[in-house]
Amino acid sequence: MRPLLIPLIAGVCAELALALPYTPVGGLDTNSSSPVYQPLSDFDYQSLNLALYQELIELDLFHNGLAKFSVQDFEDAGLTAEDRYLIEFMADQEVGHATMVSNLLGPNNASKSCEYSYPFETVREFIEFNEMVTRFGESGTYGFLEHLNSRAAAQLLLQSITTEARQQMIFRQFEGIFPMPMWFVPAVTQSMQWTLMAPYIVSCPAENNRVQFQNFPALNITNNPNVTEMSGFAEPAITRNHSAFSAPGDTLYLSWESPGKSVGPNNSYITNTTAGSPQFVAWISQLNTTYTPLTNVSGNSGQTTQPGGEIYGNHTFSTYNGTLFVLVTDSDLPVTPANISLMNQHVVAGPALYQSG
Ligand SMILES: *[C@@H]1O[C@H](CO)[C@@H](O)[C@H](O)[C@H]1NC(C)=O
Ligand SMILES: *[C@@H]1O[C@H](CO)[C@@H](O)[C@H](O)[C@H]1NC(C)=O
Ligand SMILES: *[C@@H]1O[C@H](CO)[C@@H](O)[C@H](O)[C@H]1NC(C)=O
Ligand SMILES: *[C@@H]1O[C@H](CO)[C@@H](O)[C@H](O)[C@H]1NC(C)=O
Ligand SMILES: *[C@@H]1O[C@H](CO)[C@@H](O)[C@H](O)[C@H]1NC(C)=O
Ligand SMILES: *[C@@H]1O[C@H](CO)[C@@H](O)[C@H](O)[C@H]1NC(C)=O
Ligand SMILES: *[C@@H]1O[C@H](CO)[C@@H](O)[C@H](O)[C@H]1NC(C)=O
Ligand SMILES: *[C@@H]1O[C@H](CO)[C@@H](O)[C@H](O)[C@H]1NC(C)=O
Ligand SMILES: *[C@@H]1O[C@H](CO)[C@@H](O)[C@H](O)[C@H]1NC(C)=O
Ligand SMILES: *[C@@H]1O[C@H](CO)[C@@H](O)[C@H](O)[C@H]1NC(C)=O
Ligand SMILES: *[C@@H]1O[C@H](CO)[C@@H](O)[C@H](O)[C@H]1NC(C)=O
Ligand SMILES: *[C@@H]1O[C@H](CO)[C@@H](O)[C@H](O)[C@H]1NC(C)=O
Repeated sequence: MRPLLIPLIAGVCAELALALPYTPVGGLDTNSSSPVYQPLSDFDYQSLNLALYQELIELDLFHNGLAKFSVQDFEDAGLTAEDRYLIEFMADQEVGHATMVSNLLGPNNASKSCEYSYPFETVREFIEFNEMVTRFGESGTYGFLEHLNSRAAAQLLLQSITTEARQQMIFRQFEGIFPMPMWFVPAVTQSMQWTLMAPYIVSCPAENNRVQFQNFPALNITNNPNVTEMSGFAEPAITRNHSAFSAPGDTLYLSWESPGKSVGPNNSYITNTTAGSPQFVAWISQLNTTYTPLTNVSGNSGQTTQPGGEIYGNHTFSTYNGTLFVLVTDSDLPVTPANISLMNQHVVAGPALYQSG
């Protein structure tokens, strides 16, 4: 025993001697004096490139709305000069975020701003669209952040995305709807984020790095509740008690595109799926991915029923509130936030953002 025990004890003592006071042993990169603020893998490069495309569209978008609508248009939507300054300030935040991600990628290898096309015609639609774009940016980033090889880069990105989470909530408050109807913000994959972003990018400079993630065929919830049409939400509010826009048991009517369509910058990306036949609808919400059967399938359309349930059981909180990510899949593969990317190969179409509350 002795010869074995002594080196063991000596090893433990050496470790204890090295440990700094009040510094629990363990963790990743907890004693690094020179963290590496750059991509450390292709996964890091591609994810940060996608994050940069996200920051750049937000930067353009906020400026676009401010320039497009008159002071009167904003006043009619209940948004004051101070509210407009806040949107301008958010655009400035995007300048900072884009600079930070560009610095991580290296100034000579950072993608530049593109030409965009937005679907809004009114201030309320602009605010609603901002809420949607910040939402998929936020959830898309949460999906890959913890998987980056560069912990130092992940930390900077986290410090920007928490700011964007605040933007998203403020847009809900500008709409006068409940600001955060969830206990947890969901995580989605890069391909889901890119699928939702690409349709609004018309063209990009030739020297930009192409986004390497998948463009899934588009999914449309043809009876998606339309928040901008709803009366009673006309005035901005810090919070408002309103009924949900949909309820468990509601039927969703879905239609989706076939793969092979040109989308995104310069129409140079082609939608693709590697899934089999459509059978389920995935609901990504909070910490949960739930599946409901896809029924009445005919060609590229079908329907399903909104599920119910509360996140930690009765009398906690509805699992399906706020903006939900809905996809058509070929399988009801069980996934959790840390392995949600395994779902990509089973996506037939989507995601679409469902306005449940
Ligand atoms: C610092 O971390 C490295 C590995 O990351 C480890 O080998 C080393 O023992 C650690 N030093 C201290 C003082 O904890
Ligand atoms: C530039 O970034 C792309 C991803 O956006 C990466 O694939 C490539 O290796 C990078 N090149 C250099 C020289 O850093
Ligand atoms: C996309 O189109 C724009 C405008 O025509 C052009 O300037 C740019 O070089 C194109 N980008 C690529 C990647 O081909
Ligand atoms: C989705 O369906 C609705 C209702 O049919 C339609 O008005 C809308 O244009 C569709 N959206 C897309 C992107 O196809
Ligand atoms: C919501 O309704 C408005 C007004 O009818 C319409 O202009 C807008 O396109 C709709 N938005 C969506 C996402 O369907
Ligand atoms: C707001 O909604 C909560 C939850 O339904 C309820 O307990 C509360 O009484 C409501 N407050 C007002 C002022 O409507
Ligand atoms: C959450 O969803 C439930 C069920 O649809 C609804 O009754 C409730 O009002 C919603 N709560 C919020 C804060 O949106
Ligand atoms: C989808 O991608 C797979 C794998 O890269 C490829 O074999 C297939 O041809 C693609 N399908 C379409 C419709 O582009
Ligand atoms: C099934 O879908 C068809 C249209 O595709 C529709 O006419 C029919 O009412 C649907 N059936 C049910 C049970 O909803
Ligand atoms: C949602 O996810 C949490 C965390 O994984 C789990 O504990 C809970 O049972 C799930 N709730 C539902 C309704 O699926
Ligand atoms: C939760 O509520 C449902 C519907 O009220 C009830 O059927 C079920 O038994 C409850 N579950 C638990 C664990 O109390
Ligand atoms: C994803 O992880 C969960 C545990 O968090 C596990 O139960 C599930 O089987 C995993 N999914 C796949 C497809 O491996």
